[in-house]
Amino acid sequence: MPDVKRKILWSVLVTGTALASLSATPVRADEPSPPSSSAPALATATPSVPASAEPSAELTARGEYIATAGDCVACHTAPGGKPFAGGLRITTPMGDVVSTNITPDPDHGIGKYTEEDFEKAVRHGLRRDGSRLYPAMPYVSYSGMTDDDVKAMYAWFMHGVKPVAVTPPVTELNFPANLRITMAVWNLVAGSVTPETGDSATYDKMRRGRYLANALAHCGTCHTPRNMMLSEKEDSFLAGAPLLGWYAPNITSSKTSGIGNWSEDNLVTYLKTGHVAGLSQAAGPMGEAVEHSTSHLTDDDLHALAAYILQVPAKEDEAEHGPREGFGQALDVPDIRSGELTRIDRLDEMSGPHIYDANCAACHGGNGAGTSDHYAPSLFHNSVVGSAHPDDLIMTVLNGVDRTAGGLHAYMPGFDHGSDVQRLSNTEVAALVNYVTATFGSGDHGVTADQVEKMRKQLPKTP
Ligand code: HEC
Ligand code: HEC
Ligand code: HEC
Repeated sequence: MPDVKRKILWSVLVTGTALASLSATPVRADEPSPPSSSAPALATATPSVPASAEPSAELTARGEYIATAGDCVACHTAPGGKPFAGGLRITTPMGDVVSTNITPDPDHGIGKYTEEDFEKAVRHGLRRDGSRLYPAMPYVSYSGMTDDDVKAMYAWFMHGVKPVAVTPPVTELNFPANLRITMAVWNLVAGSVTPETGDSATYDKMRRGRYLANALAHCGTCHTPRNMMLSEKEDSFLAGAPLLGWYAPNITSSKTSGIGNWSEDNLVTYLKTGHVAGLSQAAGPMGEAVEHSTSHLTDDDLHALAAYILQVPAKEDEAEHGPREGFGQALDVPDIRSGELTRIDRLDEMSGPHIYDANCAACHGGNGAGTSDHYAPSLFHNSVVGSAHPDDLIMTVLNGVDRTAGGLHAYMPGFDHGSDVQRLSNTEVAALVNYVTATFGSGDHGVTADQVEKMRKQLPKTP
């Protein structure tokens, strides 16, 4: 981060410390909340102890669905770890924030949380001990959740999730962000949303779509650029943002920079399966969001979500000069896949086309058209290859694709240092990516070996 920004952030956070002590009173964790009027299932629980009575199956099922739509598992599970046991490292400019264990284990997880404690954490970013959560936990989005949905989710976490007795490593951020109290000023800046009211299951299509997109699936957490205080820029809703090496593209209704040419069915298929032939696939963090969250939503909910997203006001991106999915065409070359494949061991002197033929053509075809069943997608008319931001293409080459959704396992090997297929160097990845975008996409973006090295460092780390 440039020095200027750091200084501003620093001074705002320090000012925040003073402000925080003034503003902390209304949200003290040990103050009992006013009784909620719409709490039939759990209203009998004493506010200060966790609810122990078995909730109805209907309530826990609803809670599970809401937690799935909210994709809690994405952040609260370490790579290879037990679901909801925490330990995932989330990189921020101030250091890594480690997600916590939210299984109902009383000592390592949130077993001692009452429903009120839980509501304060999820909607207001307050931990049970009264300290403030870092905004890596998207409580600003979740603050829009209805009372009923928070209640249902609590019932499911307490009764439907397996307790795991593991404490993840503690978050250690740089000063002044290590002072959790400074997060209070972040709250003032980022604000919070007034919770939706009534029964979210009975909303009309557009309201339900807005609720799913904003209060639950938090599409904006990744797709909306952030200001200096790391909160989402309201005037650039869903306009695209970098994300740990990936780039969550502009998904506003702009026809050149966004997804304005997609139909509602296209978007439903994408969210359900992660794959729309001749248009786009979901790799990396989006692949995970599809696998763990959106592919489990009902068709009605997906249509509501898609209808809402597709009417978000267009925001242009100067870098994009044509619809991402519209670039390129098949190369006029014979398909090598009918002949014997030869193994090439010395890649060091190889140029883009050679690296492509040796590593990609077996699946995507020498002509780039992919397999006839679209399992390996076409590289032209492909939004990742046509994008003016080559980030997702580089990350896909390094990381591969590994997504199970809609009953299909989409798998492409990665080509980074740990690859058991082929380890491509930074220079090779750069040459390959420039060749692929020049041949099948929107042109050569002049990716350098240094850029690839930086992105390699962003690949998932285990704690
Ligand atoms: C984008 C990542 C992300 C998502 C999605 C997410 N969380 Fe979190 N959550 C975090 C992080 C990181 C922390 C720890 C923050 C800290 O240490 O200040 C946290 C902390 C919490 C805590 C406080 C637990 C404690 O005492 O430490 C609760 C409760 C919680 N999350 C519940 C949820 C629920 C429920 C959902 C889904 C509706 C959810 N989270 C989704 C990142 C996430
Ligand atoms: C955890 C971060 C994250 C979340 C949450 C997220 N996305 Fe994404 N999204 C991404 C990334 C990264 C990509 C690029 C994926 C790739 O390269 O394959 C992407 C790609 C997409 C695309 C493809 C765009 C194109 O032109 O190819 C669509 C559509 C999309 N996301 C919609 C959504 C919607 C709708 C939501 C909310 C339900 C959402 N995303 C939530 C990170 C996220
Ligand atoms: C073993 C077969 C295989 C090989 C080899 C392979 N791919 Fe893929 N590729 C796939 C599959 C399968 C997908 C995922 C399709 C999906 O998401 O549904 C994919 C997806 C992609 C995507 C879209 C990813 C996104 O973010 O949406 C790109 C771009 C891509 N591959 C480029 C390449 C390049 C460049 C190479 C050579 C370094 C390569 N692939 C090698 C099978 C392969």
